[in-house]
Amino acid sequence: MDITQARWLSSPEGYALLRELGPYDESAAPALSARLRAAGLGAGFVAALLTQQRLRTRAREKFGNFAEGMLFTGDGLEQATRFEVAAGHAHRFAQASLATVHDLGCGIGSDAMALSAFDVTVAAIDADPVTALFADTNLRPWPDSRARLGRVEDWAAPPSPARDRVGAWLDPARRTGQTDARGRPRRVFSLEEIAPSWERVLAVAAAVPATGVKLSPSFPHDRIPRGSEAQWVSWSGEVLECTIWWGPLARTTGRTAAVLRPGRAPIEVTEDVATAQVPAIPSLAQVRPWLYEADRALVQAGLVGAVTAATDGRELEPGLGFVTADAAYDLGFARRYAVTAALPFTVKAVRAWLRARGVTSLTVKKRGVRLDDEALRRQLKVRAGDEGTMLLTRVAGRQCALMLEAD
Ligand SMILES: C[S@@+](CC[C@H](N)C(=O)[O-])C[C@H]1O[C@@H](n2cnc3c(N)ncnc32)[C@H](O)[C@@H]1O
Repeated sequence: MDITQARWLSSPEGYALLRELGPYDESAAPALSARLRAAGLGAGFVAALLTQQRLRTRAREKFGNFAEGMLFTGDGLEQATRFEVAAGHAHRFAQASLATVHDLGCGIGSDAMALSAFDVTVAAIDADPVTALFADTNLRPWPDSRARLGRVEDWAAPPSPARDRVGAWLDPARRTGQTDARGRPRRVFSLEEIAPSWERVLAVAAAVPATGVKLSPSFPHDRIPRGSEAQWVSWSGEVLECTIWWGPLARTTGRTAAVLRPGRAPIEVTEDVATAQVPAIPSLAQVRPWLYEADRALVQAGLVGAVTAATDGRELEPGLGFVTADAAYDLGFARRYAVTAALPFTVKAVRAWLRARGVTSLTVKKRGVRLDDEALRRQLKVRAGDEGTMLLTRVAGRQCALMLEAD
């Protein structure tokens, strides 16, 4: 989308027209396009409207009803923080009572909107003209918060003592602009490839005490800056980010995990509750009746010890996220299964076990083993399904199969 089309979409005329169109319907799109063209609208504006209508419909998954009033770019929507997670970021800044938060590389403004909704005034910049314009449009409900075109490299922190009253938020782009074989944007996992650069992020954090930065969940533990909090955040079991918090925004130092689920209060896990240094079980014979699957945020944060401590259990294999225990506990940060069998993994033994119990469909979970799901199901003569769950993993370095019932 070019800037002329973007400006028109942000204008009262384009914005009102977009609102009238309602949700995107692929089958109705050609007729709608023809109707808009017949009404005298240029082809570029029609295309921009339909793209926006499609993006808004797609954005409902991340933004719910808020999507109806927002403008998106395809990349901006992909990279935007989902609202529930952005609210967690904003809450930290709001608690620090800062005069202004500078959102440096604001995208279409999801984090900036959440901050504004928490009564924090935002001064946002983005290096892309269309993205910056859409962020500014999305911030309209909060007149004190604005977004403009700008590069982080040209941004200067206010002089002391004013810098103690401002905050800085960065969410560097983790995309290369290239696409993979399926046409999806290629993601960046290396800290050396993010934009703005890691050095720039550290320079901002050195200049502004209250700084936060959202990074990939694969952020290496040995790069956590001294004195900061590194928090891995999951939403519905998927780890979305590792966020580094400095100064007044850090609640504790070191690694933490935040487990977010729809309709539930967030659960935070810190290193001090995950100190259990219990060795993993030495053999399959030590598998107990209950199995706990730690939330992925805990696994990435290296905090599976919180599950071990809470259940008085032991890990199946260090770092894989599974803990075996004698008793059933309700934990907000781990899923519980009843273990019905623990077998050394051979196709023959597992097939015989399944056949003896008449199991014909199976959900296969794998952790720490590489096997092709389809080939495995063919060998075991089962379909994908929910008659049972089988975990293929390692115990004491050996492949094994645990038969599970979700509790
Ligand atoms: C991951 S997105 C931000 C998403 C945003 N937090 C949200 O929730 O909507 C990163 C943004 O940084 C911008 N960006 C990348 N390098 C930049 C730079 N050097 N200066 C300013 N913005 C930059 C990109 O244009 C992109 O829109």
